[in-house]
This record gives sequence, structure tokens and C-alpha cells, in this order.
Amino acid sequence: VTAHRVIVSALGEDPLDAITHHTSLVEMRMPDPAGLAPGDVIVEIRSAAVGWVDLIMTSGQYQHPPQPPYTPGLEYAGVVAWAGAEVTHVRVGDRVLVDPFLAGPRSHGDYQRYGGFASYGVAPGVAVLPIPGALSFDQACNLLGNYETAYHCLVTRGRLAAGETVLVHGASGSTGLAAVHIAKLIGARVIATGRSDDKLAVVKAQGADHVINTKAPDGLRPFRDDIKALTDGRGVDVVYDGVGGDISVESLRCVRFGARFLIVGWAATPFVSRGKGQRGAPNANVLPTNLIMMKGLDVLGCPTVISTVNDPSLRAPRLQQVLAWAGSGAIRPHVSHVFPLAEFATAMRAKWNGEVIGGCVLHP
Ligand SMILES: NC(=O)c1ccc[n+]([C@@H]2O[C@H](COP(=O)([O-])OP(=O)(O)OC[C@H]3O[C@@H](n4cnc5c(N)ncnc54)[C@H](OP(=O)(O)O)[C@@H]3O)[C@@H](O)[C@H]2O)c1
Repeated sequence: VTAHRVIVSALGEDPLDAITHHTSLVEMRMPDPAGLAPGDVIVEIRSAAVGWVDLIMTSGQYQHPPQPPYTPGLEYAGVVAWAGAEVTHVRVGDRVLVDPFLAGPRSHGDYQRYGGFASYGVAPGVAVLPIPGALSFDQACNLLGNYETAYHCLVTRGRLAAGETVLVHGASGSTGLAAVHIAKLIGARVIATGRSDDKLAVVKAQGADHVINTKAPDGLRPFRDDIKALTDGRGVDVVYDGVGGDISVESLRCVRFGARFLIVGWAATPFVSRGKGQRGAPNANVLPTNLIMMKGLDVLGCPTVISTVNDPSLRAPRLQQVLAWAGSGAIRPHVSHVFPLAEFATAMRAKWNGEVIGGCVLHP
């Protein structure tokens, strides 16, 4: 047997606990087509993204917790190894990516157990898409989750327009870098923040117009004056906040009257939910209502998947635009780290410790 998959056998107190104590590599065989439906596809996985959500899931601190034992890996790409009789849009040997909302740990139902940290995955045909344009497998497994999130936040919720200025926090991250790319495609001016000059240099090379290092020895360096200097004292039109905590409150002082404040996530405070899959959010972020009121702000929650469950019509135009951009070469996901599957623990720690810029990928 040369095929393997990673399993999370129990939820951890936090992701590092889960990686160290509850996550392992086991052998697997290619799934037997005899047990599959005529609409199913077996994908021989070439690349699987190691995302923030994959990490948070291992401790049950993500809102959508699969039951252990499960195989992590929301998003993956590879080659069709088998396709059922009813599958007509892809055939054996095709290069494909798998829609993370319809298969894998972020999905519901029969295909949730087939995560990307494995040699093979099974997905319903509707979830299996030809890789657009010239994207590599590594890029393809970093496409939908990141760029659909950035699109949902900036376009659907944020109504970002050409000529506007957007402040992107966590811009070296997977969704943050996607937001930089999409904001530039829209024609906006991008001010990106982060805590490392080295990572910010890459973010600038990836398209950000300005970068600001917000790190101070004791935490956050106030950056209101930097933003005011870059916007002629006016403030930004839109904030894309995937970080949360202190940086959110400081950001409320960096916006023009009537700005849109997009709540994307809280990378700085990942433990708003209790570990080991217990529910509850005892330390959720809070924003001062006086600043929201006096600046006439639109504060917009932007959960990509949940919004789509509430309004399925949001998906088609978003997916179509992201695939079109990728197909034309306008979107090219950046991947800084690649590891063999056997080094899944090293890869997950690298992601958790903030070493990665854009995507981190496992090769089964
Ligand atoms: N709204 C949605 O539908 C949606 C979808 C996907 C993800 N999210 C959420 O968005 C957030 C970011 O996701 P992601 O995939 O972009 O994560 P990621 O790849 O890990 O990036 C997070 C970035 O945040 C920055 N950061 C700033 N302060 C931090 C801190 N104290 N600890 C850790 N990182 C810090 C880091 O950049 P520096 O090191 O340069 O500061 C890092 O690159 C997460 O909370 C995630 O759950 C939301």
C-alpha cells in the first residue's frame, strides 16, 4: 500500500495540541468504485491546501465541526482516477479541483469524510471542476475558498468600487492576499497591514500599493497617522478585517465618514470558541459603538458559506467570476510553502506559526 491519509482521531484543546496528540498518518487504499454512486468521482490528490480553517477545525473551534475521526483538508486538486457512468463533464486523467463547499470537511453529508490530506478523495460530480487556465495543482487548491471569500467580502458585502481605498488586514494570509488581488482587479487602491517586513515585501510585490507594519514590542503599533497621511487626512473607504482584536478598534479611527467595515475573521483571537469542540464564545471581539455611530459606519458581517446557505443565488455569479479571473490569468494564487503529506505536522505548524505567505500545500 502506498496510499495514505491523515486522520484527526479526537479534537484537541487547541490546534497545536491536536496536531501533536491526535493527528496521524495511516494507510489507505484507493476507494472501491463498487461502493460508489454513478455520479461520483475518485480524485487522485496531487495538492491539498493547509488552511487556517483546517487548523481551527482540529480543535473544534470552527463553527462547522466534523466528528472525529476525520481527514482534514477542505480544499484539494488532482487527477480524475475514476468517474461513475453518469459523469460526463470530466473523464479519467483530467486535472480537476474539488469544490470545498460540496465535498470535504466543510461540506455536509456523505462526502464530508473525504478530506484533502490524503492520496484519494471522493466527491460528487457536481463538486469536481476542471482546473481553470494555467493554474498548477498547488494554485488550484488555493482558489475557491480564498477568492470566493475575498469576493463575497469586498464585492457582495463591501461594494468596493474602482478608485476607492481599502485597508486589508492580515494581507499575508490566504484570504488576505486574495483580497489584495481582487481589490486590485476591481481598480481600488490597497493599503495592506502585517507584522513582518519580510512578508509585507511579498504582499507589496503581489500588488498592494502601500504596506504598513503594525507590530510594536508590546503588541499593536497605532497606525491612524500612517493612514491619514496616505489618504490626505480623509481615511479609507473600506476595511477588510480578518484579524480582529486591537487592530479592529484602531481601524475605526482610520476610516472616512460612512465607510464600510467588513468583519471577515479574527486570526488574532482564534479562541473565541472553546477548545475540544465545546461551543460558546466567552471572549468574542467587541467594537465601541460610539465610533461606529459618530462615523456613520456600515459594519458588515461577511460569512461566505453561511451567507450562501441563506441565499443560494449568491454563489453562481461569485464562482463564475473567480473561475473566469483564474482562467484568464488575472488571478494566480501565491503559494509560499510545500511539504510532502508525511510532513503534515510540520506543514500545519508552519501555517499556525505564521510562516506562510498565501498558500501552504501538502503533496500526497
Ligand atoms: N468570512 C469568511 O467567510 C471567512 C473565510 C475564510 C476565513 N475566514 C477567517 O479569516 C481569518 C483569516 O483567514 P486566513 O485563511 O486568511 O488566515 P491566515 O492565512 O492564517 O492569515 C491570517 C493573517 O492574519 C495576520 N495576523 C495578524 N495578527 C495575527 C495574530 N495575532 N495571530 C495570527 N495571525 C495574525 C497574519 O499576518 P501577519 O503575520 O503578517 O500579521 C496572517 O497572515 C480567520 O479568522 C478565518 O477564520 C473567514
